[in-house]
Amino acid sequence: MDIKDLEKKVAALEAVKYIKNNDIVGLGTGSTAFFAIEAVAELVKNGLKIKAVPTSEHTATLATSLGIELLDMKDVHTIDITIDGADEFDSSLNLIKGGGGAHFREKIIASLTKKEIIIADSGKQVEMLGKFKVPLEVVPMALNYVMQELRKLNGMGAVRLKNGIPFITDNGNYIVDGDFGLISHPALLSENLNQVDGILAHGLFVNLTAIVIMGKGKETVTYVRH
Ligand code: 5RP
Repeated sequence: MDIKDLEKKVAALEAVKYIKNNDIVGLGTGSTAFFAIEAVAELVKNGLKIKAVPTSEHTATLATSLGIELLDMKDVHTIDITIDGADEFDSSLNLIKGGGGAHFREKIIASLTKKEIIIADSGKQVEMLGKFKVPLEVVPMALNYVMQELRKLNGMGAVRLKNGIPFITDNGNYIVDGDFGLISHPALLSENLNQVDGILAHGLFVNLTAIVIMGKGKETVTYVRH
């Protein structure tokens, strides 16, 4: 296992320790969340009783195949704990998410969650968010309008492609990757993007994270939001 995967795995193993019997657990999406889902499945096999809410179709398929009982997001009012990954996190535990294009569901689930735990390898820690472009889930018919609005925010967008054609999310929308340079005021940019009709969700997660667990070599470092 390479060092990055090791850091993801040790962070995941640390995060699952926060899960208690009878919790409703949000399951993230991506290569880091994968290690957490695997670890949750192992705990379930050993008798832990939980129900889980997946943040993507991919995670739903994976969790089901590993024997984890799922709930539909629309039937859930509150989630005890969610374990998810991130593309970047800063010292305020604000995030950029959506590298996998799942941030709309991830954000709804994070908003329903009492304790949002982000797991990450050490490469995800940044001083200032924004080197990783901000993923925006955009309703296709609104694409040109959204592109114009991004320019008014001093940003530039590019439609994410997969095999030469637009990547389509689980919800049937495009992802536009928004370049705003380094983001000195994530909360302000988040508010501004929230005002743009046609953007279903953006990948800036501000004040949603309770804990970040970062793998650093074989160890973990835990950051708690105050
Ligand atoms: C998916 C996400 C992922 O959590 C994020 O992209 C990190 O992915 P990985 O763990 O594969 O680096 O937000 O929408």
